[in-house]
Amino acid sequence: MSVDSIKIGLLGLGTVGRGVYRIITGNSENIRRRVGAGIEIKKILVRNPAKERGLEMQQAIFTTTAEEIINDPEIKIIVEVMGGLEPTLDYVAKALKNGKSVVTANKDMIAAQGKMLFELADANQADLLFEASVAGGIPIIRPLKQCLAGNRISQIIGIVNGTTNYMLTKMTREGTDFEAVLREAQALGYAEADPTADVGGLDAARKLAIMASIAFNSRVLPDEVYVEGITKITAADIAYAKELNYIVKLLAIAKDTAAGIEARVHPALLPLDHPLAAVNDVYNAIYLTGDAIGDAMFYGRGAGEMPTASAVTADILNAARNILHQVQGMISCTCFEDKPVRSMRDTACQYYVRLQAVDKPGVLASIAYAFGDKEVSLASVLQKQKDDETAEIVLVTHTVREGNMQDALQIIAQLSAVNSVSNVIRVEEE
Ligand code: NAP
Ligand code: HSE
Repeated sequence: MSVDSIKIGLLGLGTVGRGVYRIITGNSENIRRRVGAGIEIKKILVRNPAKERGLEMQQAIFTTTAEEIINDPEIKIIVEVMGGLEPTLDYVAKALKNGKSVVTANKDMIAAQGKMLFELADANQADLLFEASVAGGIPIIRPLKQCLAGNRISQIIGIVNGTTNYMLTKMTREGTDFEAVLREAQALGYAEADPTADVGGLDAARKLAIMASIAFNSRVLPDEVYVEGITKITAADIAYAKELNYIVKLLAIAKDTAAGIEARVHPALLPLDHPLAAVNDVYNAIYLTGDAIGDAMFYGRGAGEMPTASAVTADILNAARNILHQVQGMISCTCFEDKPVRSMRDTACQYYVRLQAVDKPGVLASIAYAFGDKEVSLASVLQKQKDDETAEIVLVTHTVREGNMQDALQIIAQLSAVNSVSNVIRVEEE
């Protein structure tokens, strides 16, 4: 098919949309050569066309009516960068039904509704591309779907939330507590006004659900991912972790085991020599293991205007090439298996436990007994005096089944000599 340019429509012109506009208009000649035709932005859906956006553009390009884009026969690719589920899902579904290729950065929508959208894309021979939905500018969806397709991927461990990685890095470097770092991250614009999805781990869980579904060829839904955020991490935990030669990171972990898929997001103590331990500030990284490639790590900027727009634009170029060569709908859903997702109680890990106990003979023995009774074996114990009567005890266990660990902790919390269990953090060894 020979055309001078392929027309696209943008749903949204916020942070990511602006970046896409800049790349498409600023790099048009290169794009034309790479694709074999130009890419022309015909219409953009926004809520408020009068808003100042720092871009030179004609007012006529804006619309507040999605149907003007979705139903325009000239527009071949819909670029969804407005976010959320409603009304976005409806717009994207209609676009696919109209046979348009869709490029999206929307992890919430892909994680929750990927199956339905892929079925629509297949039925209408359209492309559905979503590279930017996981880890912003880092190429990971295409590598998992295509470049690593010859591998059996056994595990993925990711730092896929820039806000929390920035906060934990700050806490580690400066010994600051969670609340103070959160306020600073909000002032700098890293953390959103409502940071719940980031600090609570939900943002990372959605990204993990997308990656695990592709890597293990079996759909993992966001609510099948065990989620724990970083809100309980204190400066004391980070200091003890350092003393034990660990660093605290929010990890998104997925494993393909004989008993099913393990999918969990939680803070973890990571050995200082682990490749992910050096991933700091707002950077993201995904460390994975395949049977042919061995270990591989993908590192870069997981959010922000231009890094995210870089991934969106690459998808637009791919969709445009597929249109030119009339091969839309080739990059289909790869969830052809139906593996169970394991209950968190059946997973196994090492644990760090910090607790406050009465400082008198026999207390440590009673704690060790409660652990031993549930088959939890201790690897190391640190004791620090807090005052005349209280000791802070930090324990690290050997690898133990989560269910046994939780049962032991319940009993320990009830011991008369234990004032409180201050924190429990998983330890992720190689
Ligand atoms: P944003 O800055 O809030 O921009 C959203 C845009 O969509 C705005 O232009 C807004 O219009 C428009 N919009 C929202 N709801 C609308 C509605 N109901 N009708 C019409 N227009 C509507 O969002 P963003 O940060 O660019 O994020 C976009 C998507 O990319 C989200 O799915 C997000 O998760 C994903 N993402 C973002 C990043 C990042 O770093 N920001 C990274 C990776 C992925 P107005 O401008 O008129 O308000
Ligand atoms: N809020 C996300 C982060 C970026 O902090 O990494 C968008 O996915």
